[in-house]
Amino acid sequence: MAKRAHEEKIDFIISEALKKSKITNPKSQLDFIAVTQGPGLAVSLEVGIKKAKELAKLYGKKLISVNHLEGHIYSSFVQNSQGKPPRDFDFPYLALIISGGHTELVKFTGHLQYEVIGETIDDAAGEALDKAAKLLGLGYPGGPVIEKLADLAGNIDVYKFPRPMLKSQDLNFSFSGLKTSFYYFLKKNPRSVEKIADLASSFQEAVFDTVVKKTDKAIRFTGINRLVVGGGVIANLYLRKKFRELVKKHGGKVLFPPFKYLTGDNAAMIGVAASYKAEKGIFVKDIEKLDRIPRMQL
Ligand code: KG4
Ligand code: ZN
Repeated sequence: MAKRAHEEKIDFIISEALKKSKITNPKSQLDFIAVTQGPGLAVSLEVGIKKAKELAKLYGKKLISVNHLEGHIYSSFVQNSQGKPPRDFDFPYLALIISGGHTELVKFTGHLQYEVIGETIDDAAGEALDKAAKLLGLGYPGGPVIEKLADLAGNIDVYKFPRPMLKSQDLNFSFSGLKTSFYYFLKKNPRSVEKIADLASSFQEAVFDTVVKKTDKAIRFTGINRLVVGGGVIANLYLRKKFRELVKKHGGKVLFPPFKYLTGDNAAMIGVAASYKAEKGIFVKDIEKLDRIPRMQL
């Protein structure tokens, strides 16, 4: 189904994107074609890569392959506070990616230079929110609904849910135990659903508290107090506030993707990451051989 949905929509999406960016003559107005190579669902990646190859050949452009996760990292560097690109870079940064598929802490030491220093050993933070929302019958994606409910709650910690892996010495995350404990809590306390706002808020707090405390640890371990946060979950305003407080404590700063269109998955962030590859002359050598890497790492 995912494959078919991608195949059905890709031509329309591309023509809309060209229209919105007022590109009437791609051959002369575009510099390069960029495409996500992974990580992600193999069948969806395939559709994008096939189309990118087609376009590169049609317009005679070089092709740039981008890791989805580097797109999330670069998405914070699209605009400065005046809305103008680019931000000045002040390496090194500590990057945190929190999405539906990933929860990763990365040392971002220079352009295109990454070192993963922590990651989830099971579920991602966004996935935990999505699964909790599903258990509450709130649909998908769960993050935004839980955020709205949490905003209505009187107290962030009416119910106490575990903060997984906080005592571990490393910078890894784990969210599947939290999800399981939520499941059993609901089974044992079905009436708690009557206070759904408190429930959502308490669960959200368990996820965010864990993420923020691990990031705190990463700042202390690395000595890097400039933070870049990317991925769908950072659309959450309350979480943004928590990160602002965290970096204030460390005398650092935090960058988020511009809210309007760069928080969740999108092609703009892939284009931005690609522009830094183009600057360094990193292109796909043999277009025919480019293949998807569903479990691609940074
Ligand atoms: O980056 P993204 O769009 O896709 C992936 O690469 O996974 O992230 C999607 C995730 C979902 O888990 C969704 O529930 C979460 O981001 N999300 C949020 C919010 N908006 C989206 N989580 C918390 N608060 C939000 N406002
Ligand atoms: Zn993503």
